[in-house]
Amino acid sequence: MDARLRNLLNQMLQDRTWRDPDQLGRRIDMQEQLERALFHAGDSLEPSLRQRGEGLMIELEVIDRRLYHAIRADIRRGQGAGRLLHWAAAMPRNGDEEGYDPLDALLSGVLDLAEPGNVPELDAEMVFYQPTPARHIFDLLARVPMGDQDVVIDLGAGLGHVTLLTAICTRARCVGIELQAAYVTSARQCAQALNLRNASFIAQDVRHACLAEGTVFYLYTPFTGTILRTVLDMLKREAEDRPIRLCTLGPCTEVLARESWLTMDNISERGSVTLFRSR
Ligand SMILES: C[S@@+](CC[C@H](N)C(=O)[O-])C[C@H]1O[C@@H](n2cnc3c(N)ncnc32)[C@H](O)[C@@H]1O
Repeated sequence: MDARLRNLLNQMLQDRTWRDPDQLGRRIDMQEQLERALFHAGDSLEPSLRQRGEGLMIELEVIDRRLYHAIRADIRRGQGAGRLLHWAAAMPRNGDEEGYDPLDALLSGVLDLAEPGNVPELDAEMVFYQPTPARHIFDLLARVPMGDQDVVIDLGAGLGHVTLLTAICTRARCVGIELQAAYVTSARQCAQALNLRNASFIAQDVRHACLAEGTVFYLYTPFTGTILRTVLDMLKREAEDRPIRLCTLGPCTEVLARESWLTMDNISERGSVTLFRSR
């Protein structure tokens, strides 16, 4: 194990072009390799070798943090979209539909969300928190036009990745509705720290929320069964007053595909966001 880590370190330190801030994808890959090698080496690892490995990890993190800090400063000035969209195009993608990839590491570094406090268990039919993988959010932003006339509501917003990123990249008013108050607190702090005046969060059960202003609704299968039915009926009533768009990810897509008041806008790539319009 010592030899494997030594070789890995020698290889990584030979060519230091990864210090260039633009080499984020490479640094994330190096961090993963180092983490794995240090973990597998266990306690028997030669102390000086462990020190070298951990030292390199810190160096990589410092470079990444500087980059995240610069992107956060752009966002606070209202100029974050360009840089983030550049990264979304440049970062290597994970082929796995559900999995996360280096773009998620970038988003997590940029948002720097505070660890939420106490999160009570959810009732039956409510789906536990899992963020939409960042590449699906960027894909949504590329495929679904959203402007300053739009109000985008994430139903079951979790820590607010979709709401926050949409607020950074568009001029739409973005609202996250989430039952878990602790998630809402973290998301609000993030919106404030990034000076996102077009992002807001409501701590509420979606079934009791007012959806009257929404023009685009996002659902990453936040609930199933009778709760999903109730919310779809609420959305159907909204659609009687004005056209609305619904964007879905995950198993709830199949349920929406059977709704006669909705039409599927496009057959999306398997596993990516699907867009529906009210008829
Ligand atoms: C799969 S996560 C999706 C998170 C977020 N929309 C995203 O895509 O990153 C589902 C979220 O819905 C929330 N949730 C479940 N039932 C809810 C309800 N009735 N009202 C509001 N939020 C709910 C959960 O707490 C969880 O955070």
